[in-house]
Amino acid sequence: MTKKVYKLKKWPKIVLVVLIILGVLLHFGMKKYREYQYTQSYEYKLLEIGYSNDQTKILEEHLKPEELDKILTYQYNEFISEFVTRKYFIFNNLDKYLSQVITKEEDFFKYHGTEGYDYDAIVASVNVGTVDEFYTNSKKTNRDEGYSMMVNKYHELGSDFEPDDLVDIPWKYRLGLEKETVKIRKVAYDAYMEMWEAANSEEGIYLLALSGYRSYSDQARVYKQYEDFKETKYADSIAARPGYSEHQTGLSLDIYSKECQTQSGFKDSKTYAWLIKNAHKYGFILRYPEGQQKLTGYNYESWHYRYVGVELATKVYEEGITYDEYYAYYLEK
Ligand code: DAL
Ligand code: ZN
Repeated sequence: MTKKVYKLKKWPKIVLVVLIILGVLLHFGMKKYREYQYTQSYEYKLLEIGYSNDQTKILEEHLKPEELDKILTYQYNEFISEFVTRKYFIFNNLDKYLSQVITKEEDFFKYHGTEGYDYDAIVASVNVGTVDEFYTNSKKTNRDEGYSMMVNKYHELGSDFEPDDLVDIPWKYRLGLEKETVKIRKVAYDAYMEMWEAANSEEGIYLLALSGYRSYSDQARVYKQYEDFKETKYADSIAARPGYSEHQTGLSLDIYSKECQTQSGFKDSKTYAWLIKNAHKYGFILRYPEGQQKLTGYNYESWHYRYVGVELATKVYEEGITYDEYYAYYLEK
């Protein structure tokens, strides 16, 4: 009996001691494991490189794992966390954004004043490509994109493009002599006629199209006129070089009205006020808006509209950015 009690008392003690030892081992093991795990985290690695707690949070919040892996191969750079928060940030353009910032203090103030960098402007110009000279580094327009295809000073349509569904805009709906023609692709023609009716019935506006499709050689003539009149720089701010004009797509129209038929006055006309509010409902966007010369490459053209389809035109309108920016971020990326 005594023996049995002794046994019962001894074994629970041993079990207890073993359990305590196991518990302590487990506790320290887990602690070590958690420490190890933390050293493998992005937070730890970013802090190690020199990013602050706030910057680390921002980077983790805005970047995907494979993007963070790439950042870890860079030295600490104070500007990365500024760029990743921009609405139109494109990770693949990061190196180009960073090359636009100057780290020497005296240069910084020289180029950007005391207000600091306009990070959004840097992102926009890199995305669109305007950090390179116009007509340098140009890509071929992707013709397969149809109505959304990009033609600008960095996207060349080429000399051989000619739409096969051009239609004439009847004289009633256009400017010029009766014997002249203004042609546009069928889909844009239908949209223009619908827009014409709406402008007419809503506001009594009488739209008149002046220029639609222009062939490569037509555009060469237009460009040369401006170049001969002044010089290349002037011509480039007003007209596209041949092969680079949206008019060659057959999807662009220069639109005036009975009320106003001059470039200079058009922006103040009732017609323009209507177009700017309504053109997207018919698939047209204002292609060269005011104050965006640096991005579009052209002076403000209140008369030049581009057909991209109602859905896309509405998105571009709502986003409130140039088509060059929209295309770079949403379509080309
Ligand atoms: N005026 C526009 C930019 C063109 O020539 O295509
Ligand atoms: Zn035009």
